[in-house]
Amino acid sequence: MKKLIPVYVRVPLIFFAVFGAMEYFIDSGDRPAFIKFPMVSVFLFVFLFLLIAIEITVSAIDAITYSLLTDEQKAKLEEASSVSLGESDWYKNLMKKLTKSAPIEKEGELLLDHDYDGIRELDNSLPPWWVYLFYTCIVFAAVYLIRYEILGAPDQETELKNEIAQAKIEVAEYMKTAPDLMDEKTVTLLTDPAELAIGKEIFTTNCAACHRADAGGQIGPNLTDDRWILGGGIKNVFHTIMNGGRDGKGMISWKGTLKPKEMQKVASYILSLKGSNPKDPKAPEGEIWVDDAAPKADGAAAPVAVAKDSTQVK
Ligand code: HEC
Repeated sequence: MKKLIPVYVRVPLIFFAVFGAMEYFIDSGDRPAFIKFPMVSVFLFVFLFLLIAIEITVSAIDAITYSLLTDEQKAKLEEASSVSLGESDWYKNLMKKLTKSAPIEKEGELLLDHDYDGIRELDNSLPPWWVYLFYTCIVFAAVYLIRYEILGAPDQETELKNEIAQAKIEVAEYMKTAPDLMDEKTVTLLTDPAELAIGKEIFTTNCAACHRADAGGQIGPNLTDDRWILGGGIKNVFHTIMNGGRDGKGMISWKGTLKPKEMQKVASYILSLKGSNPKDPKAPEGEIWVDDAAPKADGAAAPVAVAKDSTQVK
């Protein structure tokens, strides 16, 4: 066997098998294990070194043993190692077990008297590799039939749907513990004075230049009235801060400057200013915002009034 795989194939083969196994079993995220964990590189290097050392030692021992052999033993060894794989005994036995083929000399006994235009039929027994494959197929079919058609195990489509549902649950779970990943769908209105105070600070630093320190409006619209160009309520206001206003109006997207949590705070602060009536406010712009989600307390008359109001503004 030793001669079958030469050393320059054997060493890389073993090395890459170990290398592959390490990459497969060590969880190293998106980077290869041997880069993320330097110890892995060290191990692989030592392993390669040992592998080569072992090869050298073994071939040295072989050379010494060979020189100690008698001429007769040498001849025998030569003969044994010159046999190729196809001629070796174990290969022949294996083939015989797998095919049960009769030796060519015995073909006469197997010959049937079927004769088709000179083509004659042999009565070979079925090769065991084929017979066992066939039995395996039957067993597989039975298991498959019972499992999927009778016991109703989930098919691929159901499995996929289950996995997607599970993934959605996990994403929701993750969003809960990672509030910095907030978006306009998950954002909530803050009312804690301490957080609103931080919101005010953010507003004074970043927003007051256009919206005025009291949010009464200057370049940007008045943020304290009940009219909104881009929609009121925490979700819309958050969306406006995150993505900016209409093109060319001057309200930029704050995504790159503020973290989602900060945007939540400043948005909550703005909403806490509603009705604060600053002096000389900018003329109202936009429409009165009615929150569809809020419980409607004042009957059906309100939406009609809203419609009238907004036409007056335009
Ligand atoms: C460069 C000036 C400027 C700065 C700075 C600015 N805004 Fe604005 N903002 C505007 C303009 C102009 C609009 C109107 C946008 C439109 O009409 O689409 C606006 C609109 C808004 C609106 C929507 C108002 C509505 O009626 O729908 C909100 C909310 C808002 N800004 C919040 C902020 C916050 C919070 C900051 C600070 C983080 C900020 N703005 C900084 C100019 C500015």
